[in-house]
Amino acid sequence: MADQTADLDWKDGVPIATAFDDPYYSLDDGLAETRHVFLAGSDLPARFGDDFHIAELGFGTGLNLLVTWAAWDRAGQPATLRFTSFEAFPMAKPDMTAALEHFPDLAPFADLLLDQWSPGMGPVMFEGGPILHVIIGDARKTVPAWNDQADAWFLDGFSPAKNPELWDADLLNAVGQHTKPGGTAATYSAAGHVRRGLEAAGFTVTRTPGYGRKRHMTQARRAHAE
Ligand SMILES: C[S@@+](CC[C@H](N)C(=O)[O-])C[C@H]1O[C@@H](n2cnc3c(N)ncnc32)[C@H](O)[C@@H]1O
Repeated sequence: MADQTADLDWKDGVPIATAFDDPYYSLDDGLAETRHVFLAGSDLPARFGDDFHIAELGFGTGLNLLVTWAAWDRAGQPATLRFTSFEAFPMAKPDMTAALEHFPDLAPFADLLLDQWSPGMGPVMFEGGPILHVIIGDARKTVPAWNDQADAWFLDGFSPAKNPELWDADLLNAVGQHTKPGGTAATYSAAGHVRRGLEAAGFTVTRTPGYGRKRHMTQARRAHAE
């Protein structure tokens, strides 16, 4: 079990983390933002096809997992999908259930996740679905200790002003070290220090159009192996 679960407030049915005073997903349209920033921003679903491993900073409600799972399912479940997420304050199941009720299109996948979910559960292999591992603890410790590399990172901390721990230069450096050659990172943030941190971590960084009212987001790619 995890030591701590997330304390929440709710605004118009959207969960807000009390400790960070920030919503888990966009108050406007969380689903469309996730599709834009993390799927399109990682060139998915086009890159599904070989075994594909996504890593994420901040599992939260599981929305990014479910959006990715649905896209992979629509693409015909090509090869294996692994999704590893780093989370310090996992959600209690009733909170996650309430948060995901917003997204009826994702209900078939949400039900499968919720059937299995408990804060601090071990890796799960969903039948006809991804292999999910939510690694509990402060990502500044758990990412450097991780024994694997991702094809694509979803960098989804709360806003850098409210959750600087998840945008820390050393952590971004560990993200770079845990990215396969040619792998990518995407985030809704276009903050200068985030872009510089990703560059220092070995990524080529591009500022691209953001979702909705956000003018920019960030896409980053590591060089392919020589
Ligand atoms: C914006 S939310 C993530 C939303 C999530 N991707 C989703 O699909 O619902 C940010 C997450 O980062 C987690 N977090 C904040 N600081 C952290 C840290 N130091 N290590 C690991 N996770 C952290 C929070 O608990 C929260 O779940």
